Amino acid sequence: MVLELRPARADDIPRIAEIWRPAWLDGHLGGVPDELVRIRTPENFVVRATAIQPHTTLAVVDGATVGFVAVAGNEIDQLFVDASARGLGIADLLLRAGEDAIAAAGHPEAWLAVVATNARARRFYERNGWSDGGSFLYATDGDDGLLDVSCQRYEKSLTPTPAG
Ligand SMILES: CC(C)(COP(=O)(O)OP(=O)(O)OC[C@H]1O[C@@H](n2cnc3c(N)ncnc32)[C@H](O)[C@@H]1OP(=O)(O)O)[C@@H](O)C(=O)NCCC(=O)NCCS
Repeated sequence: MVLELRPARADDIPRIAEIWRPAWLDGHLGGVPDELVRIRTPENFVVRATAIQPHTTLAVVDGATVGFVAVAGNEIDQLFVDASARGLGIADLLLRAGEDAIAAAGHPEAWLAVVATNARARRFYERNGWSDGGSFLYATDGDDGLLDVSCQRYEKSLTPTPAG
């Protein structure tokens, strides 16, 4: 198995969206309002993938993209691995790449939001040294205004390593 981490390009957007929707459903069904599930169509994931592409790193295994991490400021904004590539340590490497990018931008702490019911992801973050920073409501766009999603905040201290 040859694993490569590399920045996403514009022509990766369709594959990011293709991975993202089923993985998002895996982590979010049962934990978010039905309206949000309805809004998260394949087309919506193409729009969202277009928005995150400039800040996204891909995991590519034997030439096939299997996962990605996106950062936004000091937030791990998105982390998704295709079901076929889970349990292999690829998510750990993506998370580390995101943390390194945040540290390289000079931030002393990273944070992320995970849907409160997503027990598997929460265990994964805790195994990777992240701390539970408590529950909060994450406001995301709905059909008619904002939708509140019950989330958990996770935090991790970093050693800032700003480039020269
Ligand atoms: C969260 C995620 C990135 C973690 O990646 P991962 O490769 O599954 O991480 P791990 O290898 O550490 O495995 C996590 C758990 O799944 C189990 N597992 C691994 N591969 C599995 C498989 N193929 N089928 C079922 N369970 C599996 C592991 O044993 C581990 O279980 P544990 O938490 O009870 O110990 C990934 O599961 C994922 O993309 N999930 C869907 C999207 C999501 O929730 N993203 C996070 C949003 S905040």
